[in-house]
Amino acid sequence: MDRNFALEFVRVTEAAALESARLMGRGDEKAADQAAVTAMRKMLNSVQFDGTVVIGEGERDEAPMLYIGEKVGKGDGPALDLALDPLEGTTVCATGGSNSLSVIAIAEEGHFLHAPDVYMEKIAVGPDAKGAIDLTLSVTENLANIARVKNVPVENLTTIILDRPRHADLIAEVRRAGSRIWLIGDGDVSAAVATCKRKSGVDVLLGTGGAPEGVIAAAALRCMGGDMQGRLVFRNDQERERAGKMGIKDLDRIYRIEDMAKGHVMFCATGVTQGPLLDGVRFFRGGAKTHSVVMRSESGTIRYIEAEHHFDRKPRY
Ligand code: FBP
Repeated sequence: MDRNFALEFVRVTEAAALESARLMGRGDEKAADQAAVTAMRKMLNSVQFDGTVVIGEGERDEAPMLYIGEKVGKGDGPALDLALDPLEGTTVCATGGSNSLSVIAIAEEGHFLHAPDVYMEKIAVGPDAKGAIDLTLSVTENLANIARVKNVPVENLTTIILDRPRHADLIAEVRRAGSRIWLIGDGDVSAAVATCKRKSGVDVLLGTGGAPEGVIAAAALRCMGGDMQGRLVFRNDQERERAGKMGIKDLDRIYRIEDMAKGHVMFCATGVTQGPLLDGVRFFRGGAKTHSVVMRSESGTIRYIEAEHHFDRKPRY
């Protein structure tokens, strides 16, 4: 995959972030998401490649744009698959909370898991605990194994978990095991990424979040040398049927990181609202500043890009 695509795709997440950030705190999730989707789609279609959305805003009949299977790009150029979330953390953006992002992951054709829009049980860790996770084991055993390879007591670990009623038993078990806990309102993509950043203080992500977000996080962790496993969680037969239609045969399968994002992958994200991973969009007279990260699994380079945009010289998306 041409490394110069990294810069092309960061323009895409910048555009989506700039447009949705204008709607921060307005209480209108739909409008913020729509603004991000419209900008992302327009920018994607200006890039010279033959793109297919494999993780997107939903299925064709439920998402007017950036739906699964939608073709994007100018049409000529390399065939690439995209796993994207124009606004990861719509509620966060609409309520002016922290940590919403615009994200896009890119792989060669056929290299992303075509995850249905259901939940996924996840465990993710940074490079220093790679190989120490196993979803067939209990939470207590996983925490003990992570602590062992990191050479710290379990009490020193910080586990990040989405604050949801469905996680009551998980939280109780993590507490019994002795780990510290950081509960977050939304955004388990950046929570997974945080496990790979020593400064974040996060050691492990546990819990159930969106399966599409799981694939996006797997791409980021591939670039950063982290590790992740996921297992789809179905709430009813309709969801099982949807998975079947998307080619998932073994509904209980545990996906390793390479099963979700294999080969060479790229990951770009731009902060929409302020967060520990990225700064949010900051507007100034006539323009705005964005903060993005771009990573490639091939080189392992992690590049932070701060960009100044001048609206008098650049149209709105
Ligand atoms: P959205 O971008 O769709 O708002 O997702 C935010 C998020 O917190 C994800 O990061 C997470 O995977 C998922 O929602 C969890 O779903 P739920 O809010 O149903 O618990």
